[in-house]
Amino acid sequence: MTIEGERSIPTTRCPTARQLSAAGHRVVGIDLSPSMVTLAREHVPGAEFHRLDIADLRGGRLGGPGSFDGIVAYFSLLMLPRAEIPYALGLLHDLLRPEGLLALSMVEADVDDFTIPFLGNSIRVSGYLRDDLRRVVHDAGFDVVGEDAYAYAPASTDVPPEIQLFLHLRRA
Ligand SMILES: C[S@@+](CC[C@H](N)C(=O)[O-])C[C@H]1O[C@@H](n2cnc3c(N)ncnc32)[C@H](O)[C@@H]1O
Repeated sequence: MTIEGERSIPTTRCPTARQLSAAGHRVVGIDLSPSMVTLAREHVPGAEFHRLDIADLRGGRLGGPGSFDGIVAYFSLLMLPRAEIPYALGLLHDLLRPEGLLALSMVEADVDDFTIPFLGNSIRVSGYLRDDLRRVVHDAGFDVVGEDAYAYAPASTDVPPEIQLFLHLRRA
């Protein structure tokens, strides 16, 4: 993915934020979790992080319509119920400049607000099969310009690998 200039790029967490910040981009990150925001600030001091619900991106909290060149949402929208995902994608769409880029990752799974164990806790997750995910992002106003899929399983467990989908999207 190519991101131009030194304009704004929001993201939700650290390794990607660190790379983008080190490359000279202005990086603005959000997360609902205060501890994630604290960690992000520690790991990427050159970026700006806010504790914010993605649903509160409306109303110009981080910038007006079209104010971002690119957005990264890695495994964050999967924590929303399906009913809220198109709305969240719509908010991200409106924050991007025309032809702005969205890097989106999700786990491929046909589930809606489904409880799973995660790091000793329970979390609720949603997902789509890949054709359905392509349709959801298309309906939210994005063109799919690239796509990768990886099988991933933590080394510490013997659960079957999950399929992680990475969509490279452009605001249509
Ligand atoms: C599975 S983690 C992924 C974290 C990171 N992006 C990564 O790839 O490692 C999902 C993150 O989304 C955040 N999150 C969940 N719901 C959110 C919401 N409504 N608004 C903002 N962040 C949210 C969680 O706090 C969590 O840090």
